[in-house]
Amino acid sequence: APRSRKSGPASTTATEPGPPVQDGADWSGWPTYDSAAHGFRDYWYPTIWAHEVGEKPVPITLAGERIVLIRDGEVVRGLHDRCPHRGVPLSHGRREFPGTISCAYHGWTFGLETGKLDAVITDGPESPICGKLGVATYPVEERLGLLWVYIGDVEPGTQPPPVERDIPAELIENTLVLGGRNDVREGNWRFATENGFDEGHAKYLHNTALWRLFKVMPTWNKTRIVEKDGWLVRVQDELYWEADFPGVGTFTNKRWWKRIPLPDHPGKNGDANPVIDAMDIPGFVSVRMPGLLRVAYPKFIHYEWYVPVDADHVRYVQLMVRFETGLTALAFKAKYMAAFRWLFHGQFTRQDAWMVNVTDAPPERLYRPDLSITAWRRHVEQVGPRVQPTEKRIGH
Ligand code: FES
Repeated sequence: APRSRKSGPASTTATEPGPPVQDGADWSGWPTYDSAAHGFRDYWYPTIWAHEVGEKPVPITLAGERIVLIRDGEVVRGLHDRCPHRGVPLSHGRREFPGTISCAYHGWTFGLETGKLDAVITDGPESPICGKLGVATYPVEERLGLLWVYIGDVEPGTQPPPVERDIPAELIENTLVLGGRNDVREGNWRFATENGFDEGHAKYLHNTALWRLFKVMPTWNKTRIVEKDGWLVRVQDELYWEADFPGVGTFTNKRWWKRIPLPDHPGKNGDANPVIDAMDIPGFVSVRMPGLLRVAYPKFIHYEWYVPVDADHVRYVQLMVRFETGLTALAFKAKYMAAFRWLFHGQFTRQDAWMVNVTDAPPERLYRPDLSITAWRRHVEQVGPRVQPTEKRIGH
């Protein structure tokens, strides 16, 4: 029988319980997380680039829900991508009248803003079914060049929380330049998030990545995980080992980045430096709900959103951001296009995607560096989000 994660084999006597050991053979110790194959409700998720949606409707799948994104003048609308008549995707539909989409099959025509059935082209102007039904709508916002879609319940006459709640503050408050990649890959979003925050893999899995020519990967280093402003931060205090493994090379937990004196480390223009702020405790990798990784390098920050598509697919939204303007920003953009995009957002994270696709847990047996993974799972339980159901949702 699978052993519970709450108690492990560490006790020395039958009456004296040992410290909790997170090495069970299932995920029952994290019931919310265990059931969240499709992610969580009540969050904004980044989806495709805004420029990908023009006149033509674009279908996406988010948290198991089929959604069609349609540009309506300055804004992009989101509707459930299923005509209630016979289930044909509205993304095949036509734009017959302003502010509407007409199903390609029998011309049922829905308002983009309300989702209501406004007209039925094949049933005449007095069609009695008009106004009686509609399709679900999804709040959509455009930020950082991405379309953010809210998965949650919004009562009529109310608004969802502002999208800024789910975007790191430094990305809202500062001028910045960014480069990014956005693609759907195989595997569940939880494996992707765990991989991102997994301290044990970076040095070994990525040993062959060309990115390592530029950045040295440290390996496990007596990690503590602390929470700060909603982020779980991997804090590494000690530099204490280096070992040669013949044929494999030298492994070390020595960090390539420097500890920066704090608290006052202004940016070039005298304002607070957001990169430094992100590093103002001695750790540089952090993760937060609903599945966002931040890696703060000394001069730029890499973000990686693991967006649930369905149980077997995850959208990787990768952004590399520098908080600069002018020539420095231009130079960064050029460097991103010429190198980082391929080295880091390409080869390096494709190695991650490979592992995300082939990971097959539970069951699992964990080791010391997995502390970061179990801390993330525990964090989810503490936040206690609503789980997105995995069964097919009628009417959605
Ligand atoms: Fe959409 Fe008939 S299936 S109008």
